[in-house]
Amino acid sequence: MNGISVIGSVNIDIIMSSPKLPATGETVKADKYYLYPGGKGANQAVSVARTGVKPRFIGKLGNDYFAEIITNYLKKENMELSLNYGAQTGIAMINVESSGKNMITVYPGSNSNLSYNDFKNIEIKNSIVMFQQEIPLKTIKDFMSNNSENGNTIITDPSPFYEDKYILENSDILTPNETEAQLLAGCEINSIEDAEKASVKICSKYKNNVIIKLGSKGSLSNYNGHITYFKPYKVKSVDTTGAGDCFNGAFASEFLRTENIDKSIEFANIAAALSTTGYGAFPSFPYRNHVISIMENE
Ligand code: RIB
Repeated sequence: MNGISVIGSVNIDIIMSSPKLPATGETVKADKYYLYPGGKGANQAVSVARTGVKPRFIGKLGNDYFAEIITNYLKKENMELSLNYGAQTGIAMINVESSGKNMITVYPGSNSNLSYNDFKNIEIKNSIVMFQQEIPLKTIKDFMSNNSENGNTIITDPSPFYEDKYILENSDILTPNETEAQLLAGCEINSIEDAEKASVKICSKYKNNVIIKLGSKGSLSNYNGHITYFKPYKVKSVDTTGAGDCFNGAFASEFLRTENIDKSIEFANIAAALSTTGYGAFPSFPYRNHVISIMENE
């Protein structure tokens, strides 16, 4: 494999931090407020870049003020940008409470207009291709059906959750979180043993490989039929927004370098944990040296 392409969403994240999340009908006072770029696609691309590989990022922004802010941020990262512009930039309203739990409402805006036509002229061959599900599923399927002979390794994050059989079966590695894994497998996950069973169900249902992101409980992979559990790297979390995206980007960049699944997951676990120690999604994503220094001392 010779590179990484991330095809996905890009948003402006409006983040409010308060002692507790509001209940329905309740107003709570925020003690901090941030405006940062986000979106699962852009987050994954930044995580790839910070962990040492220059990815291509393909996404769609609006023709507005938020697009300008985001473009300026993205240009500072080591990425090849293929950005399209039209309509309104996607917006995510993110409430975070002091325990680190969050609630997110997303207005997709121009993300929902990103079509395969917007990037079909870009040749993507023998690459890792990363998808999430904040762009039209048709766009993902069109890419898959038009590039099936191109030797790509497709990593799909089924988030937000839609169970699209074609997408799931045409992905080489699925990276659900615990909730998504329960939905894919059709069983509850209350323990690591349950996660193992769920991974077997997912791999046999979609004939591929899976990495289940278990958050503060670590992660579990079922790759080429081998199941491995990875313990978490313990940190004091303040905001878990984008931790799963950070995991995917760090995993892909280490996997491109090493093709070693276990080492890449250990690397991603640490990167994702570090990302929860600061506010926002990619502003808190770590750089490769930071992750490596921790791995060497573990
Ligand atoms: O996964 C976190 C991301 O989800 C946020 O950055 C927000 O934009 C939403 O898309």
